[in-house]
Amino acid sequence: MKANVLAKPNNLGGTLMKAIVNTQYGSPDVLELKEVERPTPKDNEVLVKVHAASVNAAEWHLLRGKPFLMRLMGFGLLKPKHTILGAAMAGRVEAVGRNVKQFQPGDEIFGDLTKCGWGAFAEYVCAREDALALKPANVTFEQAAAVPLAAVTALQGLRAKGQIKLGQKVLIHGASGGVGTFAVQIAKSFGAEVTGVCSTRNVDMVRSIGADQVIDYTQEDFTKNGQRYDFIFAVNGYHSIFDYKRALSPKGVYVMIGGSMAAMFQAMLLGPVISMTGRQKMGSMGVAKPNQKDLVFMKELLEAGKVVPVIDRRYTLSEVPEAIRYLEEGRAKGKVVITVEQNNKTSL
Ligand SMILES: NC(=O)c1ccc[n+]([C@@H]2O[C@H](COP(=O)([O-])OP(=O)(O)OC[C@H]3O[C@@H](n4cnc5c(N)ncnc54)[C@H](OP(=O)(O)O)[C@@H]3O)[C@@H](O)[C@H]2O)c1
Repeated sequence: MKANVLAKPNNLGGTLMKAIVNTQYGSPDVLELKEVERPTPKDNEVLVKVHAASVNAAEWHLLRGKPFLMRLMGFGLLKPKHTILGAAMAGRVEAVGRNVKQFQPGDEIFGDLTKCGWGAFAEYVCAREDALALKPANVTFEQAAAVPLAAVTALQGLRAKGQIKLGQKVLIHGASGGVGTFAVQIAKSFGAEVTGVCSTRNVDMVRSIGADQVIDYTQEDFTKNGQRYDFIFAVNGYHSIFDYKRALSPKGVYVMIGGSMAAMFQAMLLGPVISMTGRQKMGSMGVAKPNQKDLVFMKELLEAGKVVPVIDRRYTLSEVPEAIRYLEEGRAKGKVVITVEQNNKTSL
């Protein structure tokens, strides 16, 4: 290791940190705030002092072990493999392994740890350097922590079947949540004419982040109003695939990432069939693939002020269970963020 600044020593000669631990599958009630051994970076890893993390749907799926199929995909059959959750985070590099080239102690970074062990609901976490990028200087740790998983998912969804183009009419169904608020802003940055769909209470917010039109789904069904869109992104999709098809232009593209099980199965099973038999392309994006290139792309959009994370609620580390409970209700307006206290001070 090149450098290491240690936290308080424990009686085993190591160091302790606070973390939110889940040793069994279940509701947020199974989460416990504990003192655990602080991780040590491997040669290709950096040790990060976590300043903020954000909560994503992936956390409550992993916490509950649902859908069950997930357990067969390496997340632990009877009990969770990852005992500290938290993927999207921002913090400061504390120490680096000997093979780390891109970062040094003191660097402010942000990243997505879904492919390197999770663990961000803690004071410290180790991460491979390719999961991280330098944090844009113009955003807070909380704003940066909101970005890695949700914004990269939005970016990959908007590019899933060929990137949207200048002037195209794009509709974001579920524009007010964690992914949707990024999708609206990223689509605008590509020069699209964006329509956001949300409920009454979120109409002003979705307009404020740049949507050209906002449809309140409690008042109007966009699949029946005669409008056609070049790209429909179902972030929270609750219509049948045939409804979405009707709202697509003749060569339109429909990409689904979340919503009702029926809409998801239709996108996965019927989407490829519709795509083969006509000029419209329809389907599910599958699972987002975190990567450094997309993270750096988002860093540039943040630096240019083209994307500004929308933060709904902030919770402390000990309040992670409440934060997950709130997100699970499915009514978040933007992102839910965990602020990790630093030396008894809340980090901003
Ligand atoms: N494929 C992937 O890799 C991937 C990655 C990340 C997320 N996802 C999935 O994407 C989905 C969205 O994630 P998220 O983080 O944005 O979730 P989220 O933040 O929990 O979404 C909350 C938002 O959903 C909106 N919503 C609820 N019911 C709606 C409806 N019937 N029509 C339109 N909007 C509705 C709510 O707005 P209102 O209160 O205004 O209705 C709220 O603002 C989730 O299903 C998640 O599992 C997939």
